[in-house]
Amino acid sequence: MITNTELHSQGNVFPGKLNQFDQVVDTLTFNTDNGVILRLQVFRDSVIRFKYGTGGKLEEDFSYAIDEDGNRGYNKLEVIEKENHYEITTSKIICKISKADLRSRIFDLEGKIVCEDELGFHYEESYQYGGEIVKMSKKAQPGESYYGLGDKPADNNMRAKRFELWGTDQYAFGKQTDPLYKNVPFYIGLQNKISYGIFFDNTFRSFFDFAQERHHVTSFWAQGGVMDYYFIYGPDVNSVVSGYTELTGKPELPPLWALGYHQCKWSYYPESNVREVAAKFRELQIPCDAIYLDIDYMDGFRCFTWDEEKFPNPTQMISDLREDGFKTIAIIDPGIKVDPEYSVYQEAMEKDYFCKRADGPYMKGKVWPGQCYFPDYTNPKVRTWWADLFKGLIADNGLAGVWNDMNEPAVMEVPNKTFPDDVRHDFDGHPCSHRKAHNIYGMQMARATYEGVKKFIYPKRPFVITRSAYSGTQRYTSSWFGDNVATWEHLSIANIQAQRMSLSGMSFAGSDIGGFAEQPTGELFARWIALGVFHPFCRVHSSGDHGDQEPWTFDENVTNITRKFVELRYKLLPYLYTTFWQYVEEGTPMLKSLVVYDQEDAQTHYRNDEFMYGDKFLVCPVLEPNAKGRRMYIPRGEWYNFWTRETIIGGKEAWVDADIDEIPLFVKAGSIIPRYPVMQYVGEKVIEFLTLDVYCAIGKDKSVVYEDASDGYDYKKGRFSLRNLSFNGTENEIIISQYKDGKYTTEYETLRLNFIGLPFEIDYVEVDNLKISMEDLNYDLNTQTMYVNKNFVELHIVGK
Ligand code: NOJ
Repeated sequence: MITNTELHSQGNVFPGKLNQFDQVVDTLTFNTDNGVILRLQVFRDSVIRFKYGTGGKLEEDFSYAIDEDGNRGYNKLEVIEKENHYEITTSKIICKISKADLRSRIFDLEGKIVCEDELGFHYEESYQYGGEIVKMSKKAQPGESYYGLGDKPADNNMRAKRFELWGTDQYAFGKQTDPLYKNVPFYIGLQNKISYGIFFDNTFRSFFDFAQERHHVTSFWAQGGVMDYYFIYGPDVNSVVSGYTELTGKPELPPLWALGYHQCKWSYYPESNVREVAAKFRELQIPCDAIYLDIDYMDGFRCFTWDEEKFPNPTQMISDLREDGFKTIAIIDPGIKVDPEYSVYQEAMEKDYFCKRADGPYMKGKVWPGQCYFPDYTNPKVRTWWADLFKGLIADNGLAGVWNDMNEPAVMEVPNKTFPDDVRHDFDGHPCSHRKAHNIYGMQMARATYEGVKKFIYPKRPFVITRSAYSGTQRYTSSWFGDNVATWEHLSIANIQAQRMSLSGMSFAGSDIGGFAEQPTGELFARWIALGVFHPFCRVHSSGDHGDQEPWTFDENVTNITRKFVELRYKLLPYLYTTFWQYVEEGTPMLKSLVVYDQEDAQTHYRNDEFMYGDKFLVCPVLEPNAKGRRMYIPRGEWYNFWTRETIIGGKEAWVDADIDEIPLFVKAGSIIPRYPVMQYVGEKVIEFLTLDVYCAIGKDKSVVYEDASDGYDYKKGRFSLRNLSFNGTENEIIISQYKDGKYTTEYETLRLNFIGLPFEIDYVEVDNLKISMEDLNYDLNTQTMYVNKNFVELHIVGK
């Protein structure tokens, strides 16, 4: 590992004096007298790219992360030469580049410092590999906090810690384990109430030190490649994440069923076992939309084959499951068994699609099937070939999605758990070693899988899940956190990882609920389910070597608790789907750590447990055994306790009761929350009306409800239904107005309004300026519910 201490080693080269400056539209080039170049590009008013070259050269641009379709363009760009620096002003920030050494300082328009170089860019030549070790150091401001970086299990705020990015198969990882499976070189800094992001687009093994080694310095460096990073101004964390996601790409909407509950185990087989598990869900009436086949469905772990004894007729089985509302998802790994009789192996050999070592032999490594070769997914031809392999599983057998595992890539029984450094990759026509391709190998596999599933599932939407990822992988797939353990500490890690992934642009993620390794107690499983239903991806999975982990394997109480929480997830599906749509539209995180919710409140900066589920729900899991509740921080604002309907004013810590069948859950006053009836699977029932839970407040708030056909691509042609709802409440009147957008006609005609905390007794109601009798509204005084036409524009509820 290279340490910062070496910054001062003889080998470091720093930029010399500026001797030439040049501007072409949004691109400014600074050349120095020792051959260091800085090319600064203004991507947007709030996004600046800094790319450095050495030896008088800038490397050609190529990135797997950057979304070519992302928005570019700015409102203002002014460049002024000053005595000691250049000053670049956009409508959001001012960036100063020193003429003496290219160091940068970025200010907001009020002149407050946002982020500044300490030593700035420097590099060291790598004798061993050639090329350079590229380094950047920035000042860590007093009280500055740091977030992001993908799946790290450490506490949310990363200040005083160092992390490494080198995707690794970490079975039964712990709180301190680093690196893990994913490689997301993006972090968020927050100081003096201003936040910004840094995305270091470098795929080599890289490091981030957040004022750990030197207390006033944050630095990042990589063992090769170039210093190429994007600065993203907030000033709020939400906008930083949104800017980063815009840059690295937003996903498409998943099919709605993918937001349901998923059941997995290593492994369900034979066919009769899969059918039994599925039937049990229906018998016990625990909603479930997807069931998974782990590696044992294959013939000797050969990808794209079936074990004909265990699964004599997979197409029939999948079709029967589908009839019963289950989607079937199967695992596909990168390791292809070395077996001259096996068609996938034969084809890849014929076409020369497997990775090779530097001196020519194939990259051979042991995975589940024994000795394997590995497709080079960084070759576009290989990706196309791989995508086409899914015809059988998707188009012929009827799988609804694919699960990519072991794609760090993982190799067994070798000390480094992966390929050796010398393995060669195409890197889309930029041939390189594994040092450069390792961190994007899993991403490119998931990308090829996504292309294949998408091609053969069309006109429906694809579903893919991956274990390894690099920035931008959210464009193709969801992800899970790998092999966790059934312990209370891991429940807390899962909570942090889900928040961190959301902050890292990859919201569609979740843990193995209950823990993958070892056995949860019923209590731990119940608490984990209670949290897991609030994660964008919700799947129970376990290694299977300690017995079963289906909801009914504990006791009746746990079964009932599971049903209760899974039902809650299904009731809130339109809310979750709307939150997903906001993520797709705006790039905003689906889960928001408290710091995202209220960064001005310093209390939030070090919080780990509480988070916002979308914009309206505050969730805080119980993370200890034998608890009847817990203390938690309630952020500022007025909140309803979801269970008791009592209100509480935040900005303080509070004890919240939550017995084993509850979780501390609050709703922001003024919210309008859409709700569906409980269904055993998405699409089971015709939705007769949409319930809107109105959490009354004195004040104003906005809510949205997004719906569409729940699958397919018609929504891209405008066939969606978007309700923009405004709430305006006083002591004796509530006005709810609705502005509708989109051409999708929902199957229901009626909205059922359900008032919570109505501060008065209703005198009369006007719908679009017409008084409607309480009878016609079907008003129920006990439940405070009424029914109105779904197209209303303005609703006045007037108190006596
Ligand atoms: C490792 C994965 O992380 C786990 O989820 C899976 O069950 C096993 N591989 C077997 O495929």
